[in-house]
Amino acid sequence: MPRRRLLAAAVVIAMTVLLAQILFVACGGGSNRVPPTAESIAAGRAIFLTDCTVCHGDDGRGSILAPDLTVHIPTRNDDFMFGRITIGFESAASGLTMPAFGDILSETDRWHLVNYLRETFGTLTFNTPSGS
Ligand code: HEC
Repeated sequence: MPRRRLLAAAVVIAMTVLLAQILFVACGGGSNRVPPTAESIAAGRAIFLTDCTVCHGDDGRGSILAPDLTVHIPTRNDDFMFGRITIGFESAASGLTMPAFGDILSETDRWHLVNYLRETFGTLTFNTPSGS
């Protein structure tokens, strides 16, 4: 019965779409992030130069206070970076502290930073979300 098959196909397609949407949200795709437009990246750069270079350096290459972002960023996904910027991090290995900016910068500004970091210090090549 071609009509039945058509109906069955429609049901399968509808369920696949629903499943894809659930997975998308479950994987963080539904988080309220800001798209990496030129404006967002420029805004992130301005914040970086104000709040971050004291430790990470003007070029992001680090100092005795912070690591080289060109080494770290390609191994971190965007949500991980957003989390570190928001709640900070104390490294047991180096004894250094990345301060928390969740109370200082708006959520939008923190996403602008993530967009700037991604654009400037490298695309994701090897994801190690639990690393130090
Ligand atoms: C007081 C110094 C200091 C300031 C200011 C600072 N950072 Fe950090 N940041 C650190 C240290 C130290 C680490 C490394 C922690 C570790 O060992 O993983 C770090 C790590 C990071 C990481 C994660 C790298 C990784 O792989 O774990 C990101 C992203 C980052 N900083 C972004 C920023 C941004 C954006 C700002 C400005 C809003 C900023 N930092 C300001 C010291 C600082």
